[in-house]
Amino acid sequence: MLTYKESWKARIAAALNTLLPESAQGSIDPSQVIAEVPPQPELGDLGFPLFPFAKLLRKSPSNIAQAVVSVLDVQGTTEPGDRYSAEGPYVNVRLHRGRFAQALFALLLDETHPYGRPETLKGSRIMVEFSSPNTNKPLHLGHLRNDILGESISRILMACGAEVRKVCIINDRGVHICKSMLAYKEAGKGQTPASEGIKSDHFVGDWYVRFHQMSREDPQAEVRAQALLRQWEAGDQETVALWTRMNAWAVEGIKETYQRTGISFDQFYFESQTYLKGKAEVLNGLEQGLFYKEADGAVWVDLSAEQLDKKVLLRKDGTSLYITQDIGTAIFRYQDWPFDRLVYVVGSEQQYHFKVLFSILEKLRFEWAKNCFHLSYGMVHLPEGKMKSREGTVVDADDLLDRLKSLALKEIRDKEREEALGDPEATAEKIALGALHYYLLQVSPVKDMLFKPQESLAFNGNTGPYLQYMGARISSLLHKQEQRKHAGEETGTLRPELLVEDAEWELLKTLGEYPEVVAEAAERMDPSLLATYLYELAKAFSRFYHDCPILNAAPDLAATRIGLSQGVVRVLQDALYLTGIPFLAMM
Ligand code: ARG
Repeated sequence: MLTYKESWKARIAAALNTLLPESAQGSIDPSQVIAEVPPQPELGDLGFPLFPFAKLLRKSPSNIAQAVVSVLDVQGTTEPGDRYSAEGPYVNVRLHRGRFAQALFALLLDETHPYGRPETLKGSRIMVEFSSPNTNKPLHLGHLRNDILGESISRILMACGAEVRKVCIINDRGVHICKSMLAYKEAGKGQTPASEGIKSDHFVGDWYVRFHQMSREDPQAEVRAQALLRQWEAGDQETVALWTRMNAWAVEGIKETYQRTGISFDQFYFESQTYLKGKAEVLNGLEQGLFYKEADGAVWVDLSAEQLDKKVLLRKDGTSLYITQDIGTAIFRYQDWPFDRLVYVVGSEQQYHFKVLFSILEKLRFEWAKNCFHLSYGMVHLPEGKMKSREGTVVDADDLLDRLKSLALKEIRDKEREEALGDPEATAEKIALGALHYYLLQVSPVKDMLFKPQESLAFNGNTGPYLQYMGARISSLLHKQEQRKHAGEETGTLRPELLVEDAEWELLKTLGEYPEVVAEAAERMDPSLLATYLYELAKAFSRFYHDCPILNAAPDLAATRIGLSQGVVRVLQDALYLTGIPFLAMM
C-alpha cells in the first residue's frame, strides 16, 4: 500500500504532541488525525482539519494550524518535495508528484503482488448467503440484484483476505411448491420442458401461474394443494416422485441462469433437507421451556422481551414454517463450516424475519448467533411498475437478459462493428451483463431503485458499457505500442517522475486510492463504492487521454504514459471483476 497518508498523519500527530499543555493526559495518536481531500485541487492533495484538537490544546484551530507548520519547519522530517501550509483551520499538503508516481508505479506494475489487495480481513471466515430462490418459479429481476450483490460482496471480501464461502438455500418445499405440482398433476398430460421446448424452470413457473388461474374458478384447488403438502410430508411415493421431477427441472433452469450471469456457489442447501433439523430444534427448545405450546398444539416463541412479537414456530398440525427451516439451515451451516460471520443477502421485506431468526438462535444459546447479519437490500422496479409472479407478469431474469442483449446487438450493428468484433453475439451478451450489473450495483444496497434497460446500455455516461469501452480503448492503445515495439521502433523508458501534468496527477491519485476503496467497500459491504470509483477512474482516464498525447509524445514520456495506461487497465480490470462486469478488449 502507499503509505503517504499514514506517514503524514504520524507527522501531524507528532507535531501536535509537542503543543500539548503540561497538564494534558496522554498523547495524540496518529489514528486520531483525520486526513481529508480538499474540495479544490488548488488547495492541495491532503488536508488535515484541526478542529478536533482545539479543546485539548486550548487554542483556536487556525492557531494550531500555524503552530503545526512551525513545528514541521523546525523538525524537518517531511519528505523532500512535499509542501505544506496552514490555511485557516487546516494544514494542507501538496505531495511531490514525481515521487508519488514512482512509489505508485512500483506497486502497480509489480507482477508478484496484485495491486488493490488490502489485508484488512485476513484470517476471517465469512459465509455469504444470497439468491436463495424457490423452486416454483424462475429467477426474476429482484434476484438479479440479489445475485450480483452477493457475488460482488463475496469477491470484495476475498480481495481483502477473508476466506469466503458462498452459499444458497433452495426453498424447495412448502405449499407454494405444491401449487405448481398440483396444476401439473391435474392438467400436465405428461408434458415435459423438452416436449414443449421451454427452459425447464420456466416450464415449472408456468404451472405455478396456471394454478392461480385454476384456483380462481375452483376454490377447492387451494385445499387440494394443502392436501398435497401433507402427502409430501408423509412421504407419499407418487407425490415425492412428482416433487423430485419438478424440482430438478426448476433447479436445473435456475443454475443455467447463474451460469449465464457469472454467479456461483460453494454449496447449495435445500430446505427439504434442513427443515426437520429445525423442527427438532424447536421441540428441543420447547422441552427446555424456551418456547411454549398453545391450547391448539401450535408451538410459539414469545420475543416481547426483545421488542419483537410472538411467533409460531410449528403449526398445530405439526408442519413447519419458513422460519423453522431457517433455524435448521443455520445450524447445519455452522457445523459444516464454522464461520466468524454469516451474511444473509435478502430483501428488505424480510427484516423482521431475520430479527426473529437471530433472536431465536440466541435463545437456543448458539454463541455464533450474534455473528449473523442480514444485509438487506431494496426493491428493483421497472418503469412499467411493479409486477406479480402469480399473474405471470413478473420481470423474468432470462427475458430481461435477452432483451438487453438484443438492444446491445442492435447498437453494435448500428455502429457497424460486427465484422471487427468477429463474434458480435458474444460481445453483446457481455455488454448486456456489464450494463445490468453496473446499474444494479451503482445504488447502495439499502435503497429501492428503478431499472431502466435503455439507460443502462448507453455507451456514454455513467454506465457499465462506458466502463467497458474505456477498457477497450486502453487495450487498443497498448496494442499499438506493442506493434511499434515489434516493428523495432524506439519506445523509450519508463520514468514516472515525468508525470507532472494536472490530468496525470489526478489519474495517479485516483489509482492510489484503489486499495482503500476496496477495503471500505468490504467493511461496509457496499459494492456501490466500487461502482462510483470505477466511474471516477474512467473519467480521470478520459481527461488524461484528451489532455496528454500518448503515442506521439517524446519516447520516454510516451513509454511512461503507456505505463500509466497499463496501470489503469489493471485496476479497471480488477474492479470490473469485483463488480461482475465483463472486461472487453474490443468493443
Ligand atoms: N426463498 C426465499 C424467498 O424467495 C428467500 C430465502 C432467504 N434466505 C433465508 N435464509 N431465509 O423469499
